Amino acid sequence: MSRAHRTGNSPPTTIRDVARSARVSTATVSRVLAGLSVVSKPLSKRVHAAARTLNYQPNRIARSLRARTTRIAGVLIPNIQNPFFPGVIRGIQDVLQAADYTVLLGNSDYDPARERKYLDLLRAEGVGGLVLVPDAASKKAYREFLALGLPMVTVDQCVPDLAVDSVTVTNAEGAALVVRHLLAVGHRRIAIVTGPKDAFTATERLAGYRAALTEARQPRDPSLIAHVPFRPEGGYEAAGRLLSLPAPPSAIFATGDGLALGVLRAVHERGLHIPRDVAVVSFDDLPWAAALQPPLTTISQPTYELGATAARLLLERIRDPARPVQRVRLQTRLEVRLSCGAQGRGAMKTNTAARVDD
Ligand code: RIB
Repeated sequence: MSRAHRTGNSPPTTIRDVARSARVSTATVSRVLAGLSVVSKPLSKRVHAAARTLNYQPNRIARSLRARTTRIAGVLIPNIQNPFFPGVIRGIQDVLQAADYTVLLGNSDYDPARERKYLDLLRAEGVGGLVLVPDAASKKAYREFLALGLPMVTVDQCVPDLAVDSVTVTNAEGAALVVRHLLAVGHRRIAIVTGPKDAFTATERLAGYRAALTEARQPRDPSLIAHVPFRPEGGYEAAGRLLSLPAPPSAIFATGDGLALGVLRAVHERGLHIPRDVAVVSFDDLPWAAALQPPLTTISQPTYELGATAARLLLERIRDPARPVQRVRLQTRLEVRLSCGAQGRGAMKTNTAARVDD
């Protein structure tokens, strides 16, 4: 049956049906139906004709939004299975719900195509704004979203040349703090297992690691640096390589608790003792870090406050679209536990100062 002749019991026409019929992208359909002048007149006529023929009815959420009776905000993260994100999402949700917003959550899986589809859907449903963990590979899609006048705030990761409000933590300072601590308790061959080279948090934490080694006049050994996906499997694989080196490290700094789980598995599988044979430290301080045996020395980041601050910035941006861009950095803190080999010895200044980047 041709899509143009739907019977009463056919499923409702979707924005994708209109796009297919008009031979355009869903993004173009949402721009035309949003009345944006960025689309040529012939194309706009073709889209409107297709929407009429298919009797396209934007769904209840979009209709009620036009009546300003429903407030919707999008939240886009890489993967809800990463134990770091639930705390961030809870902070976002609590602040937005208190302002009568409903949250639409999506997982991008670091896939730009999937991210673009989610952004198109949000635009088509008329969301009031978006909080997302950005990926530099999707910068073009973000710019299109912003071009529609839709507010966006980034959290955790950051795309420095995207002029949007952002909330991150003092990544480099926190990483330098934990490496200085390892140096203070006697470690000299310190490895780092960090996220992908294009990930903002991974590169900032690597910069902090390098700064601390340089400050202590420690030689840099590239074989002690591993870039892997921010997942336990990545930490496991990297630790296997590091522990098989002719001169293995005496300490491993994993720049995320998920990575640290994989590192710990690799260390235990080799029957090595933590911290006597190898120290392990991390970044995040998720709730279970202190319950591990031995408890994990880590840089604590305020996951709930990251999300809550991002949501507050979004609400302020919705209220005042012309306000200056805010780049907020939240404080990180060194939590010294047993996995680094120190028991109070060599404890350094444990906080890094929060700040607002210019
Ligand atoms: O998920 C691991 C890391 O990725 C966390 O430390 C968080 O900051 C994100 O960047």
